[in-house]
Amino acid sequence: MRVTFLGILIALFLGIAECVKQNDFKKCQQSSFCRRLRSLSDRKTNSSVWESPYAITRGLEQLGDEAASYTWKLNNRLAPEGIAFDLAVDVLKDGLIRLRVDESGGLYQRYNQTASYILVDQPELMQASSVKITSYDDVDNLAFQTSTNQPMELKVYHNPLNVQLKNAQSGEILVDINGESLLHMEHFRHKDAEDTDNNSAFTWHSEQPFEDPNTDGLWEESFNNKPDSKPKGPEAFTIDINFPSHSHVYGIPEHASPLALPPTDGSSPRRVPYVDDPKPYTEPYRLYNLDVFEYEANSPMALYGSVPLMHAHSPRSSLAVFLLSAAEMWIDVKHPTKESTSTQWISESGIIDLFLIPGPTIEDVFSQYASLTGVSQMPQEFSLGHHQCRWNYFTSKDMLGVVSGYDSIDAPVDVIWLDIEYSDGHKYFMWDKKKFPDPVDMINKIASKGRKTVNIVDPHLSRDDEFYVFNEASDKEVLVKKPDGQSEYEGWCWAGSSSWVDMFNPASWDWWISLFKFDKWKDSTPDLFTWVDMNEPAVFNGPEITMPKDTVFYGGVEHRDLHNINGILFANLTSQALEQRQEKNSRSFVLSRSFFAGSQRFGAVWTGDNLGTWDHLRSATPMNLANNIGGIVFTGADVGGFFGNPQPEYLVRWYQTGAFHPFFRAHAHIDTKRREPYVLDEPYQSIVREVLRLRYSLLPVWYTSFRENTQTGLPILRPQFVVHPSDAGGFDIDDQFYISDSGLLVKPVVHEGAQSVDVYFAGEEPYYDYFTHEISLGSKHKGRRKSFFADLESLPLFIRGGSIIPSRQRARRSASVMSKDPLTLTIALDKNGNANGRLYLDDGHTFDYQDGAFIDRQFTFKSDRRGWTLTSSEIVPGDSYEDGNEVFIERIEVLGLKAPPKEIKVDGRPLEFSWEDGTAASSNKEDTASLLNIKKPLTKIAHDFKIIA
Ligand SMILES: *[C@@H]1O[C@H](CO)[C@@H](O)[C@H](O)[C@H]1NC(C)=O
Ligand SMILES: *[C@@H]1O[C@H](CO)[C@@H](O)[C@H](O)[C@H]1NC(C)=O
Ligand SMILES: *[C@@H]1O[C@H](CO)[C@@H](O)[C@H](O)[C@H]1NC(C)=O
Ligand SMILES: *[C@@H]1O[C@H](CO)[C@@H](O)[C@H](O)[C@H]1NC(C)=O
Repeated sequence: MRVTFLGILIALFLGIAECVKQNDFKKCQQSSFCRRLRSLSDRKTNSSVWESPYAITRGLEQLGDEAASYTWKLNNRLAPEGIAFDLAVDVLKDGLIRLRVDESGGLYQRYNQTASYILVDQPELMQASSVKITSYDDVDNLAFQTSTNQPMELKVYHNPLNVQLKNAQSGEILVDINGESLLHMEHFRHKDAEDTDNNSAFTWHSEQPFEDPNTDGLWEESFNNKPDSKPKGPEAFTIDINFPSHSHVYGIPEHASPLALPPTDGSSPRRVPYVDDPKPYTEPYRLYNLDVFEYEANSPMALYGSVPLMHAHSPRSSLAVFLLSAAEMWIDVKHPTKESTSTQWISESGIIDLFLIPGPTIEDVFSQYASLTGVSQMPQEFSLGHHQCRWNYFTSKDMLGVVSGYDSIDAPVDVIWLDIEYSDGHKYFMWDKKKFPDPVDMINKIASKGRKTVNIVDPHLSRDDEFYVFNEASDKEVLVKKPDGQSEYEGWCWAGSSSWVDMFNPASWDWWISLFKFDKWKDSTPDLFTWVDMNEPAVFNGPEITMPKDTVFYGGVEHRDLHNINGILFANLTSQALEQRQEKNSRSFVLSRSFFAGSQRFGAVWTGDNLGTWDHLRSATPMNLANNIGGIVFTGADVGGFFGNPQPEYLVRWYQTGAFHPFFRAHAHIDTKRREPYVLDEPYQSIVREVLRLRYSLLPVWYTSFRENTQTGLPILRPQFVVHPSDAGGFDIDDQFYISDSGLLVKPVVHEGAQSVDVYFAGEEPYYDYFTHEISLGSKHKGRRKSFFADLESLPLFIRGGSIIPSRQRARRSASVMSKDPLTLTIALDKNGNANGRLYLDDGHTFDYQDGAFIDRQFTFKSDRRGWTLTSSEIVPGDSYEDGNEVFIERIEVLGLKAPPKEIKVDGRPLEFSWEDGTAASSNKEDTASLLNIKKPLTKIAHDFKIIA
């Protein structure tokens, strides 16, 4: 049985064409709800009169006395009698607006539980007394302030319904809802009732005579001969959300598209740095978590994850909208004028649950969004090191060979990964004992070299009655059901005939957690971590390689209602499982392919099965930036490209890029040649080793960046518009980025044969080349690009003046052996001779930091007329991190001083130093910065110090 299936799979893979099978996936026209509701926009364009039929029929009511929560009754005057809607507006504590629309007393209840899985908490409401309400005949005006004291107004116009969020100071309209009169929520109806025959108005939107061509697909439709029975009939909604004063929109990952979202109406995109040949988009951005084989590098097609968060940005203000629906969604973007953006959102089902995130600064937007979906987990420190994966390392010996391969070339790596072939017939949890006779012994041997192991656990369970996991799931009745709601759904996946765990069933939760416990999973140890793949879910014989929409989950809910949050529940529960199996309070590490808003709480994600081609290397950075501004900061891409046998030049460029993505894992398809760093020829091998060492030397920056994200919600990878929000020249740039607040600016080289790259500098500060210390003056290059030499060994990396970079310069084999290594501080002075930096350290693997076991220090370098001082002080006192007492500073480098000091002292003790002249700072010429090198200050990192010159 297994052999036959493997045969089929191999045939499948050998026969696969070069690029994504477009025909496997729907276009908007092939999806009845998208076709139906997107056409409203065309109809509007074509008609001379177009007015929203939605109006408020009963005015504002406040729910309770205390809280700022209001409702209105809403009607569609074209809908049959008895159909009504509720509009609810909550003003949240921070000044966010939550706007909900649901059908009231409908034939069925729309799915309204997405928020309960995705939001960190029930959002706290503002005090009603803090909201000033003024009502006129046809409009209610709600005035309030954001947490940063920005006065705002929400205007609710009754007839037709129109909701506007305004900046009360400038009068600027920030968000305009139903300003285009496209809002529409399909009401539930009886299949046999007469209103289904009322084709002239079946979308209940316009009373003009209209021959609607989209009358099919209301009650059933099929795609590639895969039927969808649609038992509840049409239940889609659409809403137009306009940003009259914002020229740029970003976000709504996951798409392999430029970061600044190009319009989808076929008009020309703006200049797009990463795409050589930008083509206009005519399809909306689709959010439907899918396993897309060999996806395109530039397309609005759906991919593995969905974050329905869109940022709108202008030089004056930032804001965002978050439409919390777990159903399939399509989003159109247009620019009515150069300075404005209009969007139309179409969702197959669910309630309208829309959050307006008011800003007005970009920092406000990130912290406001984090208050909804949370910040990242503090990661296991080892997981910020380098990961080596392959489909597949086939035996224990093969695995140990990878470890010794890295050791043989003195290159660091922290984790060796096992793809699906470790398992016995793809029955995850069960090892293939012929190839891995003693998994615990293997994991221990790898751990003894300071490395961890990860293996894959997919949510499809082989329907093999010798598979205990399947048997238990079947007995507990926690498997997804067929449309009949009774029998177990069966489909094909790696394991052959399979069934899927229904994570929405609370009975699955403790059971799933128990599967990972050491007394149950004996072939596991605390050094084994988990990769959750195929959790969109991927089903080989399902429509669009996923599960039919009419399969039934817990509580009789259809798959269509919750598809996009299926994956995040696996990451959630698996992360909990890894935490709970440890006696000690240990953090988890889980990598998930499918994701949704909030996935940052449960571990890392990556961009799935990319190709080993230059355009995929180019798309990796915008994709990771999009995830980062969507809150999901622990993200990366398969280094080297999953498919293909790329040339060594390409691999080198990939390592140079991947080393600056938060999650840094090399991976390759089963048909590819081995391409681990230790099998590369020279000079490639040495270049890659240096890149890996560079990554490890900067681990203190990465770890501090994660700490910062947990406190502010700010992204770790920051595109130009986030760091320089009023520099419009940077708004379209997505091929260079900053690492958190560290001051590091990276410009990956992503073109074949490149010998130079252009870097865009903004702001007034000087930038220092990380390696050569050449200075580029931000003020001189403002809004322009500067060309840098970039042969294969060169990696364009800069420090923005005013930053202090902590690093660990001793080459080691893995992150887990570096925790007591001494630190180097690199101080790059700003134009006034000052700089700031931060360092966060803790034990890297427990939750003790929550009880104060950490070191969190602020470094301040200040110049004055007489000299300068470098001080280290505690940001938050935390002194119980014991290993921290053994960490000291072994070197301090200062870049850009005007003159050498006469003497340098710490606590009255003189320090040795050396000085190299630079010309730049003194002559305002772009040249090499001066370098002061303070040797062996040997100051303990845990203590305050003051170094004076
Ligand atoms: C709008 O008008 C154009 C041009 O006459 C036509 O091609 C298109 O089908 C119309 N669209 C709708 C939705 O009626
Ligand atoms: C969902 O809707 C039902 C029916 O209106 C309601 O009783 C329930 O509280 C709602 N659930 C959530 C989470 O809003
Ligand atoms: C997921 O995680 C959160 C904590 O972030 C928890 O409150 C929630 O109940 C979890 N479970 C599910 C099924 O999503
Ligand atoms: C058809 O739609 C019209 C509104 O356009 C409505 O007045 C009428 O009741 C509907 N007919 C049926 C049979 O529901």
